[in-house]
Amino acid sequence: MVDFQAILNSIYQDARAVKDKGVVASYIPELAHVDPEAFGIHLRTSEGENYGVGDFDKLFSIQSISKVFALSKAMALIGDAIWKRVDVEPSGNPYNFLALLEIENGIPRNPFINSGAIVIADILLSNLKNPKADFLNYVRELAGDSSINYNEEVAYSEKITGFKNYASANLLKSFNNLENPVDAVLDFYFHQCAIEMTCSQLSKAFYLFANKGSCMQQKQHISNQQVKRINALMLTCGFYDEAGEFAFEVGLPGKSGVGGGIVALLPDQFIVSVWSPGLNKKGNSKLGMHALEQFTTKAKLSIF
Ligand code: DON
Repeated sequence: MVDFQAILNSIYQDARAVKDKGVVASYIPELAHVDPEAFGIHLRTSEGENYGVGDFDKLFSIQSISKVFALSKAMALIGDAIWKRVDVEPSGNPYNFLALLEIENGIPRNPFINSGAIVIADILLSNLKNPKADFLNYVRELAGDSSINYNEEVAYSEKITGFKNYASANLLKSFNNLENPVDAVLDFYFHQCAIEMTCSQLSKAFYLFANKGSCMQQKQHISNQQVKRINALMLTCGFYDEAGEFAFEVGLPGKSGVGGGIVALLPDQFIVSVWSPGLNKKGNSKLGMHALEQFTTKAKLSIF
């Protein structure tokens, strides 16, 4: 029997001693206000046991982690029709890299780079009645927590500085890969990224990805095959040009965000969420990556 709490405690002790914790994202100005010393991990087993250390109950901006919720909702709504508009290959480039999109005629490499997530946002806009309210309710339902919300300041902060995402959306529009107006799609996208959650809320909300598509309330949101695909995409594309490194070091499907969060999971076993706002050069949480490498090494649990 693995002593999860002892492992999390030892990772926490090590993390506190690390001097270089990376750099907090500031290209979305509102994100720069976060305490660079914050650090938390939460683990939830499929049986419902919870283990936490540090700031695992503090809210942070989930940013690109939201792309997993958006993809799962879009898959539930339109199924395989998604793959006519977004590919499923790793990009080997940063999340906001634009050149490939032009070369590949407006078909994003995968749903987790920004251009792919913007197409998914467009699909949700076309298929949800009240897109922002319905999407938030979906995330709340997955986590079993109605207190989860958008941070309007973060959404606005990205809106007024998100020039690359405007460039990407305009390029997508020029290739006829957006049905809705650019401003409407980006308003939705900036809001989905601006959802705030804690590590423990994320571990709960990701339950369905570790448990064959059924959430904690036993509602089947997506099929087992769709979960297989989402986890495959997390493993191959969840960390952009660092996806190989994450698979190499950690060995779990996962997804990062520039708010410093990472969620990873072992199917049928557990979900682990970590938050440390300082990022490495690839835009992924520096200590978060390190903590998860330590975790799978110490627990001897990974998909490999
Ligand atoms: O579009 C952006 O740039 C942000 N809203 C999200 C980027 C992000 O989290 C990338 N992940 N590491």
